[in-house]
Amino acid sequence: MISAPAGRPWADARVLTRWSGKSYREAGTGPVRAPVPGRPYAAPWTPEGCPAEAPPAARTGAAPAPVPRHRRTSSGGRRPTRRWPRDPAPSLRTRTTSSLAPMRAITIPEPGGPEALVWADVPDPQPAEGEVLIEVVASAVNRADLLQRQGFYDPPPGSSLYPGLECAGRIVEVGPGVHGWAVGDEVCALLAGGGYAEKVAVPAGQVLPVPSGLDLVSAAALPEVTCTVWSNVFMIAHLRPGETVLVHGGASGIGTMAIQLAKAVGARVAVTAGGPDKLARCAELGADILIDYREQDFVQEIRKATDGKGADVILDIIGAKYLQRNIKALAVSGRLAIIGLQGGVKAEVNLAALMAKRAAITGAGLRARPLNEKAAIVAAVREHVWPLIGNGQVRPIVDRTLPMSEAAEAHRVVDDSAHVGKVVLTV
Ligand SMILES: NC(=O)c1ccc[n+]([C@@H]2O[C@H](COP(=O)([O-])OP(=O)(O)OC[C@H]3O[C@@H](n4cnc5c(N)ncnc54)[C@H](OP(=O)(O)O)[C@@H]3O)[C@@H](O)[C@H]2O)c1
Repeated sequence: MISAPAGRPWADARVLTRWSGKSYREAGTGPVRAPVPGRPYAAPWTPEGCPAEAPPAARTGAAPAPVPRHRRTSSGGRRPTRRWPRDPAPSLRTRTTSSLAPMRAITIPEPGGPEALVWADVPDPQPAEGEVLIEVVASAVNRADLLQRQGFYDPPPGSSLYPGLECAGRIVEVGPGVHGWAVGDEVCALLAGGGYAEKVAVPAGQVLPVPSGLDLVSAAALPEVTCTVWSNVFMIAHLRPGETVLVHGGASGIGTMAIQLAKAVGARVAVTAGGPDKLARCAELGADILIDYREQDFVQEIRKATDGKGADVILDIIGAKYLQRNIKALAVSGRLAIIGLQGGVKAEVNLAALMAKRAAITGAGLRARPLNEKAAIVAAVREHVWPLIGNGQVRPIVDRTLPMSEAAEAHRVVDDSAHVGKVVLTV
């Protein structure tokens, strides 16, 4: 067990920042507002931009969806689908200086199905100020990579165009202004892109040491899930010991980490998953309430299991399709944290139901967040999650490992939801 995170200074730095408009650095060192018991969301909340998930046909794992030549912009206009540039990605172009030896990376010359991923020679990246260069040993597949491959999820401006939101490997170069890391350190890192490559340059604040007792391949499965779960379930939704959390998609990469972390703080964990095999895997990880979303109504089941009370926190990866039912499944003062949009982006909200429950809905994406926010999350993960991995209470769940050159096959596995936990790619 670890102590509840609520009340820790970092836990409310985010809320404070949104009130005061101060930078995270300022907020972290200034006075911190104590959380109001049972009302962690007293502050006005602005959900962050989430990736537009692919339309349902593109997510079925059946025939790949036709790739649109144009996509709608948020203002309703049309802009061309991003084409892979003939010359390197802008961020790499500015970083490439002396090195003529190319590295290899997974490129996406044209968006499309898994075959769109091409392992090709590209220029070496160079670390900019505040960055380190990592020689990648392994990366891991995230569902967002599938959307990027299909042309539905562009990397944030300035980041690598290659897919890959996390990696593990060895530091081979340290950029100017970096302290605390040295050449040869074995690390894993949260990336905005570029993990599917032999080398990647990453801001030093997004780097973590490989937890004791883990190899580099297993460590590659950690950064994205630990940062997403810790930031949403604990820093935003303030899950507390004794509370009930409902994790949708319990057998996903995110779900398998959410179950373990929630159990580690002493929460009761309910999960949804498709079928008894996946639910059995969730139970092995500690899930207490198992709901087969294909056969059962999760609202009824969660109410039954909580004496009608509902879930205090819901970690949702479905979005629009589950919104009304999620609100019904929440307890009074419940917190719904939306992190995925597999069931669509637009839905109606019954505000009366929300008000009656004094409930809160948040949404947050990790990839496009400012560097100082990501660094704050990574620091919190290092402080609170890394000890749990070090003592064996929490572990990375790796479904299978494939060579990077077989990234297309790895994407097929994830497309088909044939995995539990993470699919890792080795270089
Ligand atoms: N906001 C962020 O910062 C952030 C960061 C990382 C991930 N995410 C999101 O989190 C989600 C999970 O990511 P991942 O990489 O862990 O994906 P993943 O391993 O591919 O898992 C996707 C899961 O969705 C489940 N699922 C599909 N339909 C469902 C339904 N109707 N009800 C419940 N579960 C359902 C699947 O379960 P079955 O196979 O049992 O159907 C599968 O386990 C994705 O939507 C991703 O975009 C968000």
